Amino acid sequence: MELLKEKIRQEGIAVNEHILKVDSFINHQVDPVLMQEMGKDIADHFKDKGITKVAAIESSGIAPALMASLALGVPLIILKKQPSKILNQDLYQTVVTSFTKETNYELTLSKKYISEEDHVLIVDDFLANGEAATAALRLLRMSHATIAGLAVLIEKSFQPGHDKLSAQGVEIYALAQIAKMAENLIQFKE
Ligand code: G4P
Repeated sequence: MELLKEKIRQEGIAVNEHILKVDSFINHQVDPVLMQEMGKDIADHFKDKGITKVAAIESSGIAPALMASLALGVPLIILKKQPSKILNQDLYQTVVTSFTKETNYELTLSKKYISEEDHVLIVDDFLANGEAATAALRLLRMSHATIAGLAVLIEKSFQPGHDKLSAQGVEIYALAQIAKMAENLIQFKE
């Protein structure tokens, strides 16, 4: 999506070869107009797939997922992060390891808001190592819901997430794919 790539060129900061900072329009301050356009683009891509719900991974996945769910006319469900090990039989729960942040957390979803009738589109801001998205898949599959695909705003194609998810048969739609980064260099995939 050219609009997002242009914004990344203007405001994205490549901290090093791994980390892209997009705090001015995605992760800290949010550009609502860009977010709405990205949501519409995602919805347009998946419009004929029979999606019944959009799932966001808390927290930076919520804004784009809300915009996509609005454009698709379906509810948004938030996969919530909890630090706990507290078992709760009303929830589906799975543990996620974040490489970037070097932490473990529990991703949870209430059994009330998902069922085997659902066909779900997962939306997140970044696809890096694919741990969060893999956990989201695991969680949704516990309810026997089916997965329409994964939409991400930014895929760092030089990290293993894309291949990990593709290998599980998930359709991935990325609005911007980054092939390579270095300090002050961002190279998009053609
Ligand atoms: P994964 O989710 O693809 O496995 O990646 P990883 O564990 O490495 O990422 C952990 C967190 O770091 C995720 O956010 C992910 O979105 C974020 N992240 C990964 N690479 C980048 C990057 O280059 N730039 C930025 N800005 N973030 C990155 P999170 O923990 O879910 O946090 P949040 O959603 O609350 O922001």
